[in-house]
Formats: sequence, C-alpha cells, structure tokens
Amino acid sequence: MRVLAVSLLAFGAAYAQYSSSSSHPCPGYTTSNVLTIRNGFTADLTLSGSPCNVYGNDINDLVLTVTVEENNKVNVLIEDAAMKQYQIPQSVVSLNRNSSLHSFADLSFKYTDHPTAGFGFQVIRNDTILFDTIGHPIVFEDQYLELTSNLPKDANIYGIGEGPDTFRRDVNDTIKTLWNRDAANPYKQNTYGSHTVYMENRAGKFHGAYLHNSHGMDIVLANETIQYRVLGGVLDMHFFGGPSAYDVINSYTDLVGRPLPIPAATLGFQNCRYGYKSIDEVDQVIANYSAANIPLEYMWIDIDYMDRTRDFTFDPVNFPLPRIQQTLANLHSKKQKMVMMVDPAIQRNSTYGPYVRGVESNAFVKNADGSVYVGQVWPGYTAFPDWFATNATSYWHNELSMFYEQVPLDGLWIDMNEAASFCTGSCGSGVAEDVVPKFPWTVTPAVPPRIPNVNNTYLVPKYSIHNPQTEISEKSIETIAVHANGVIEYHVHNLYGHMMAKNTRAFLNDLRPNVRPFLLGRSTFAGSGSYVSHWNGDNNSDWDELYFSISSMLDFGIFGIPLVGSDICGFFSNTTEQLCNRWIEVGAFYPFSRVHNGIDSIPQELYRWDSVAESARRALGVRYALLPYYYTKASYSTINGSPIARPLIFEFPADTNVLDNDSQFMIGEAIMISPVLFENDTSVEAYIPNSLWYDWYDHSVVVGAGKNATLDAPLNHVNVHIRGGNVVPTQTPQMSVEDTLAGDYTLIVALDSNFAATGTLYLDDGVTYNSTHSIIKFYSDGKTLVANGTYSHPVTNVVEKIIVLANGDYTGNKYVNPNNTNELILDNLSLCLTESWNINLF
Ligand code: NOJ
Repeated sequence: MRVLAVSLLAFGAAYAQYSSSSSHPCPGYTTSNVLTIRNGFTADLTLSGSPCNVYGNDINDLVLTVTVEENNKVNVLIEDAAMKQYQIPQSVVSLNRNSSLHSFADLSFKYTDHPTAGFGFQVIRNDTILFDTIGHPIVFEDQYLELTSNLPKDANIYGIGEGPDTFRRDVNDTIKTLWNRDAANPYKQNTYGSHTVYMENRAGKFHGAYLHNSHGMDIVLANETIQYRVLGGVLDMHFFGGPSAYDVINSYTDLVGRPLPIPAATLGFQNCRYGYKSIDEVDQVIANYSAANIPLEYMWIDIDYMDRTRDFTFDPVNFPLPRIQQTLANLHSKKQKMVMMVDPAIQRNSTYGPYVRGVESNAFVKNADGSVYVGQVWPGYTAFPDWFATNATSYWHNELSMFYEQVPLDGLWIDMNEAASFCTGSCGSGVAEDVVPKFPWTVTPAVPPRIPNVNNTYLVPKYSIHNPQTEISEKSIETIAVHANGVIEYHVHNLYGHMMAKNTRAFLNDLRPNVRPFLLGRSTFAGSGSYVSHWNGDNNSDWDELYFSISSMLDFGIFGIPLVGSDICGFFSNTTEQLCNRWIEVGAFYPFSRVHNGIDSIPQELYRWDSVAESARRALGVRYALLPYYYTKASYSTINGSPIARPLIFEFPADTNVLDNDSQFMIGEAIMISPVLFENDTSVEAYIPNSLWYDWYDHSVVVGAGKNATLDAPLNHVNVHIRGGNVVPTQTPQMSVEDTLAGDYTLIVALDSNFAATGTLYLDDGVTYNSTHSIIKFYSDGKTLVANGTYSHPVTNVVEKIIVLANGDYTGNKYVNPNNTNELILDNLSLCLTESWNINLF
C-alpha cells in the first residue's frame, strides 16, 4: 500500500477556527395533518419546543411532502409553510419530478416522531435502512438547516464535490464544503463546482442521495453519520435505490438532466496553454504536433488572444483577427479545430461596447443601491452579467454572436465563472467609469482583507462553512450583491457558472441549430452536464495531482458530467519530462484529454521531449484505436448517464478490495488502465479483479485472481487490459477523429472463462443532434459472432478483422496465430454495419 505525500497538516491550522461537530439543543419537529397524495403523503411539521435559534431563526411551521416513485426514487421535501426560503427555480435546474424510469430497487419510507428529537425518517431498500434521521432533530432556520443520517461504520461513500480528494471519502473525518471557489485544486477543500449527490456501496449494492439546494453548505462525514449543514433554502432530498452504481447515476441524471450529446471530435487529443505570446507561436505549436506525428484535434487559445484581456476583442499586434481567422481556416483544412476562451467578467469601461451595452440592457449584477457591482478580474474593474436579468440572455447572445461572426469557432471555453473576482466586495464602485487600468493590470493585492460586518448575517452567516477564506465573499461576487429578481448572491452563488453555461449553450444551439456544440465550463452545479463538459481546473505539475486527477475524473462521472479530465502534465509550476510521460499515459485515457499549462511554466507540449512524444504516440494510439468504443460509451451517457471513465468498484461492486481503489480506472466495462503514478516507478502494483483479462498490446491472458500483480511499466508503456466477456470495437488510429472513425473496424472478441462475450457499437454522424443512428449488439459464444440491433445510420465502412481472444487453445484451427494459441484472427472480412450478420469463428 503506497502512502500519498499529501499532507493534511497544513490545513489543520486554518480549520481550527471551525467546529467539526454541531451540538445544540434543538427540539425538532412534530408531525400532524397527514394527507395522502399520489405516490405519497404530505404533513405539517411544527417546532416541538422552544426555538434553539442556533445559527439563525427557527421556522415554526414546515410542510413535509414525501413521494415514492416507482419504488426507485424517494423524494423528501421539507419546506417552510410560508414559502419564503429560497428554492432553486425550475428554469435554472429543471428537475424531472415525474420520472418514467422503472427499477426494482424496492424503496420504502418510514417516519416517526422521536420522543426527544421529533420527526425523523428512514429510507429503506428491502430490509436495509439506507438513510436514517431518527433520533437526530431536524434544524430548520432561515439561515441554517441541519439534517443528519446514520451511516454504517466505515461506510463506503463516493461523490459530493467538487474538490480533489480520495475517491472513497474518509467517513471518519471529512467536511465537504460546497461553495464555488476559484481555488487551484486544494486537497479536500472546495473548488469550482457544487454537487451534493453521493453514492454509497453497502454490501455490494449502491444507493444514492441528492440534496437539491443552492446554498453554501458543509456535508460532514464523521461519527458514523452524514450531516448536512446548509446556509438556507429548503431540504429537498432525493434518494435513489440503485442497486448498481449505474442505476443510481441513471436515476440522478434522469432527475437533474442527462449529459449532453458531444461532437465525436471532442474525444480527440487537445492542446492548450495560458501564455502563448502570438498567433505565430500557436501556428508553430500546431505544426510541431503534426511533425511529431501526434494527433492534435483541437488547438485552444486562452485569454492571450484578447486585447488587454477583454472579452470579445483581439490583440491587434500579437493576435490580429485576420491571422486568427487564417489559423482557424488552416486547422479546418486539416480536419482540426479551435476553441477560445470567454470569461463572464466584462471590463467596466465607458468606451468598451460590451460594458456599455450591458449597462443599457440592465444586464449586470447590482449593488444594493442599484448601481453596477464592480469586482476585479483580468481586465481590471469588471461588471458581471446577471443571468437572472430579463435581458441577460439577449445581451450575452448578442455579444457572442458578434464574436462568432468574426471567429466561427469549434468550441467555447467559459472560465472564471464561480464567478471569480480578485478583490472582495464591489471594489470598483466609486471609481470613475473611465478609469481604465494600464495593461498589464496588476491586481490590487494590497487591500488587506477587510473586516466584514459581522452583524450582516448574509455577509457573515452565523454558521461558518469551511470555506478557507477570510469571508465567503472573498474571491467572488459579494454575497449581498443583488440579482435582477431581487435575490442576493448569498442564495444563488453556487448557480452562477451553471447559469452561464446554460445561457451560453443556448446561444450555441441557436447559432448552429442541429450541430452539437462543444462547451467547456469550470464552475458547475447539479444538472450542468446537460450544458457543459468540464476540466478539473488549475492543478499543479506534481505527482500527487497526477494521482488525484483520477478520482476527480471519477467524481464527475457521478455528477453527470462524463466528458472530463485534468490538465495533462499539470498547470502550475514546471512539469518534468518523467512526470509528463506518466501524465500523458493517464491523460490519454481521460474522457476529455487536453494538455494545458500555466503562464509561468516551462513549455510542455507533448513534442518537447522525445520520450514524452513517444509515450504520447503510444498511449494516444491506444485511445484512438478505441475511439468507436469511447464514442459508444459517450453516446450511452446521454441515454442513461453512465460514465465513460469508471472506478473499479462500479464494475466489481462486491469486491471489497476495490472499495477505495482510485489508482486504476476503467473505460466502460471492458478496458482497465493501470498507470504509473509514482516517480521513478517502472512497474505497477495493479489490482487485477477476479475475471479474465487480456493485455492490450500482446493479447496475453491475465487470469485475475482478485489480487495485486506487478506489471512491467517502462517509461513509454501504460498497462491496458481488456476484460474477458467483451466485444470491443476498434479502428486504426489516424491523425484526426474523423479519419479514424471513417476506417474499417477490428472487433476484439475477448472471451470470458465461459467462452462468451458481448458488446455494443453506437454509430451516428458524430456531429448533429438529429443524426440517424444505429445500435449494434455483438454476441459471441466462442464459436460464432452475431451482430444485430437497430440500423438506421448509413455507413460504408465494414468490419474488416475479428480478433478472438480466449484463455484456451484453438489449436487445429486454420486461423490460429502460430505464436499465440489463445488468439484467433479472421482477416480480410467485409462485414457490413447496416444489417445483421452471423459468422462462424472457426
Ligand atoms: C483560470 C483557468 O483555470 C486556467 O485554465 C486558465 O488558463 C486561466 N484562468 C487564464 O485564463
């Protein structure tokens, strides 16, 4: 067992000011007036004793609504009877409360009024109590909610984020804070997005829970409980019965929104850096990738292209518009693509069109006195679009549309949308509108952290969530800033990035109706997967962060955002040749595979070192061979939410050895990646689950015995195994996704110990929303291979080759590979993908 070098000690001091337990004399609530409704009941909840007013004012009268849908989902909604508490509008996150999903999870609900703690409830699957608040009083105050459930000892909890952490959370000592923050990957702390959903593996079966609430909160795992401590709103809990991990994610994404359909090209390799000095340098990088024979699908340009880092402008000297247009056209001529960045913060400058129009449209977040709220981001003093403003959509779409008329990009990158601000409060208010900072703008660091007004509980709530800043407004829009609907930032802070994503995607959908847009966003919320894909933000070029990139990716599979990955080779600080080698061997398999680098770091494009270029060609070669498989997984994620990258525990839920395995991962159900994650290692102690496996490269049999095995991993080699029981569609890697997917197929029929295998191939045009599609299922009993399914997508490429792998001997068969009797190759086939067929394997 390897020990990670991450130290928690550093954070101990910062946390000392907070309490990790919340003990109070709150009385809880008493139920009355129970009424049956369709699929459930409602009841009144009345405070059972004197208010405890622990971190706010107790609300006396609540309404409980419980629904049990199809025995698969339970919703427990506890609202204030007066309906004054903030609730997330359906227009922001549209919850599908009338699911048509069926499941056999057999969930039930029980409640009681406990003698001292008042109303408590249990969510039960068959005879197992999954969630149990009985004995823990519910606290429901205007600015503090508390809900506590028992957990089994050493419970296996996954999810709740965003923030780098071990994939299986430490149930004895975890405080997950949900408060979107521009923070560079701080271990176990809150970062860019907020996702309350969690899953638990209990004796091999999964269930899940989701709290639908946008407020800042801590979710505390300790003392065999999970405790929600929330700064407002209502308790809207949704429970999912599983019993597989995929059932939970299916139910969750059915509720909050399915992952969006992606352009197939986004599965190609991508390169970015912050700090390209000119479009000439960008062109050079593109050319160097080609020369190094590394497939570059998308080239990205960060804020560097902008004139003084202002949205919707072009640096006239280093990134003149005609040159950018030329680069884009050149990329397109080689089937390559380009993405550029847009931030929400708009420079506050009375001569800058996007600002002037924003003011005219009344589209910016305001101060309490009605003036524009002014923070500080890259271009200096900035205003922020208010996504709740009536005109915000037309304003934003108009700006984007003028931008796209100039650069018809292939994708958009929305960053800094927590929303990040470098000063605390409306620091530019009072400064004349035509005071435009000299470029480069130096952030005003010197303002000492202000002493916030503790009497304003929206600035300093009485309960301090574990947001490691001096105050919750630090690094973002102040919590007392006002949105157009009169709601203050306090209630909706965690929704800012989600709303920007939703709004921006709506523009992209309007711009090119029927073309699937590519949108990458940093700040996300429940349901954002319907609008954006995600990268895990500013990591550091070090080995720990390589390690945690795996759990961060796996978390987003639970959150319903399957196209995800971390900055390959690391963002901050200088990478090393060895680290970059190992990182591309992991990153080549991230669903979203992109090198990105910070402005102050040495260059790290994959061709910079021969050894890295070699690792990249090899690892990306495997990925590109697997593109039809990746695309099939991505397509299924839009149907049932299933993640592309998966932890071993999702695939082997009863194997207690993989409960906390976050050093390996699977792509779909068939491909296992066991990378090197520690410096100087040339072998991997990989866990090989009890199954039959085949080495990707030489097809040798590995009989998984549910034990660790030492796998050779010289610098340019990443271990990849195919799991027996699967038919994996592959193609010959080319320099573009389009060319790869246009080629003929090799089906790898990896038989299990019963000489059987199944698989799926999803085909459509990979570009449009309403493409025809085929779903082809493969079945093999070791003797024959059958293909059938639904066929409506016209394709001319064929299955040209079948490779059958078995832990057995096909000797005597004319197709036997003389060097390797467990492999049977059928070549020069021409099996179409437009109708069923059946072929004898020998
Ligand atoms: C912060 C983002 O996380 C990073 O990826 C980007 O390079 C910088 N902003 C500059 O735009």
